[in-house]
Amino acid sequence: MGLAVAWKLALVMIAVQPSTVVFHYLKKIVLSNASHDLARAQHKSTQIAIEAVRNHRMVTSFGCSAEVLRLFEEAQEKPLKPARRMAWAAGVATGFSPCLSFLTWALDFWYGGKLAQSGQISAGDVFKTFFILVSTGKLIAEAGSMTSDLAKGTNAVAAIFEVLDRQTMTPRSSQVDHLSEKTTLQRRIQGRIEIKKVDFAYPSRPQCLVLREFNLEVKAGTSVGLVGRSGCGKSTVVGLIQRFYDVDRGVVRIDGVDVRELDIIWYRGFTALVSQEPVIFSGSVRDNIAFGKPEATENEIVEAAKAANAHEFISSLKDGYGTDCGERGIQLSGGQKQRIAIARAIIRNPTILLLDEATSALDVQSERAVQEALDRIMVGRTTVVVAHRMNTIKGLDSIAFVGEGRVVEQGTYAQLMNKKGPFYNLATLQK
Ligand SMILES: Nc1ncnc2c1ncn2[C@@H]1O[C@H](COP(=O)(O)OP(=O)(O)OP(=O)(O)O)[C@@H](O)[C@H]1O
Ligand SMILES: [Mg+2]
Repeated sequence: MGLAVAWKLALVMIAVQPSTVVFHYLKKIVLSNASHDLARAQHKSTQIAIEAVRNHRMVTSFGCSAEVLRLFEEAQEKPLKPARRMAWAAGVATGFSPCLSFLTWALDFWYGGKLAQSGQISAGDVFKTFFILVSTGKLIAEAGSMTSDLAKGTNAVAAIFEVLDRQTMTPRSSQVDHLSEKTTLQRRIQGRIEIKKVDFAYPSRPQCLVLREFNLEVKAGTSVGLVGRSGCGKSTVVGLIQRFYDVDRGVVRIDGVDVRELDIIWYRGFTALVSQEPVIFSGSVRDNIAFGKPEATENEIVEAAKAANAHEFISSLKDGYGTDCGERGIQLSGGQKQRIAIARAIIRNPTILLLDEATSALDVQSERAVQEALDRIMVGRTTVVVAHRMNTIKGLDSIAFVGEGRVVEQGTYAQLMNKKGPFYNLATLQK
């Protein structure tokens, strides 16, 4: 149609169009290359961030968020250069793209003006051709691509703000300022745990009560075993002791103080958790043990590994303590991971030691050796042991049998065996 109105002008305009198309593709290639480089450089920091989020329980439990942030910041240095390059490329391309359009428009008007001046076409024809060929086609195309980008961008930004605006369900403590004085004076906790009439449901399943009227008391420096069917709530109790969640009713007290009133970071500094699925970070064996105590000396690391019966296998690895564990500890066996996790807990010298199936992945011989080590380090600490195997819990000060969200019976191994209740049934089943 443009050709029909003013064919000469239309031909010139069509001839310069490919330059914008070529530039558009060049811009795409340069930007995608730059963003590829950036993504590669960001891999390490992304990995740290993913691991920290995936293993946030371990990070909070060991109070290492500051350390993880430092590592993350360090890892951010490498992608800085490609990020700058990418920003420059994007900036120049975004600036040059409209510039090129305006230049072609200027050419169109200059040539159109010349034709109008020489009387070959009217001024109206210049505008008609211009609007037909440039404005309508290009603007529609641009508007189309912009709206989808805008929509994508709006959704992405909304998702980010949703995360940023989230409030923690377990605030540090409403009385931290007031308590910090008291707590620093107190220095260490004794380690008495009281769980009183606790009802608890996970926030994601509020209608399903995992614990109801749950009662448990562990005197400072003693050990208690939690046994019961899978899914009865043992790990949940361990989580509540570290205040990963707040209870719905009742109270969890440490040394007689409601755990909600304690400065949670300070309190968790006295606890150590060996979780059901041992968490290993990418990095060396040494780093993984030192996670429990970032300022630990080499000697302390070796001592902790020895206590966890891990020194022997670590020494036999190619690079000893410097051996890379691989992403999520992929280069280690389940039992080796568990022993590293135990060494990490030992090095913390915790007042409250929480062992959630800490030796379940070990063979009988290693289990015995680790059990001996654990028995040794349990002395003088409040220890909560979750275990299925009887020989792991036989020697504990007390055993609590959990069923239907509460402690059904409690006593020493001998007492419970004499009682011939549910614990007796479980124990005889295993024989
Ligand atoms: N994050 C969660 N969100 C919702 N429900 C959960 C969550 N974690 C556990 N549960 C549910 O809570 C109940 C108790 O789980 P818990 O992990 O405490 O059991 P457990 O006694 O430790 O079992 P196991 O011996 O298999 O480790 C289970 O029914 C489980 O499905
Ligand atoms: Mg469990």
